[in-house]
Amino acid sequence: MISKKMAESLNAHMNLELFSANMYLVMSSCCNEMGLKGAANWFFVQYREEMIHFMKFYTYLTDQGVVVSIPASKAVPNKYKSLLEIMQKTLTHEQLITSCMNNLSEQAVQEKDHATQIFLQWFVTEQIEEENNDRDLIAKLKLVGDNGQGILMIDGEMAQRIFVPPVGSPLAV
Ligand code: FEO
Repeated sequence: MISKKMAESLNAHMNLELFSANMYLVMSSCCNEMGLKGAANWFFVQYREEMIHFMKFYTYLTDQGVVVSIPASKAVPNKYKSLLEIMQKTLTHEQLITSCMNNLSEQAVQEKDHATQIFLQWFVTEQIEEENNDRDLIAKLKLVGDNGQGILMIDGEMAQRIFVPPVGSPLAV
């Protein structure tokens, strides 16, 4: 049993995870159009991870007897000048998610909602990895600047990313 207020906050965040998935799917498409198949792969994997995050929230809420709501989603951007810009937008977005996760955790602590605190722990840890991955790629992209060969090397590295569903994940799409 979770409070109505907690359910609303978690439902709002669930929709933000869905927005994240959509945003990364479009970024994958943009990278593909730039000729960067490796980066397209990286963002497609990211999309799949976000769908897992979305489903984790969905499953937690429904397991708690909450009927979720999904409002019409807002359009996601689909115009970027470079892979560096895409990665910078990605980091900014993940920093927003981290901040939301901290707010949710704080609310769960204030409500003495131990189940939700435990549920959120996985996401709090996950955000460290997400931001770190983005910072790493931004640093490399800044190093190579406009050098096409350098960008293609990073693209090759991004091609290596594979989707690994977390243990016990509710959905492996
Ligand atoms: Fe679901 Fe990228 O945080």
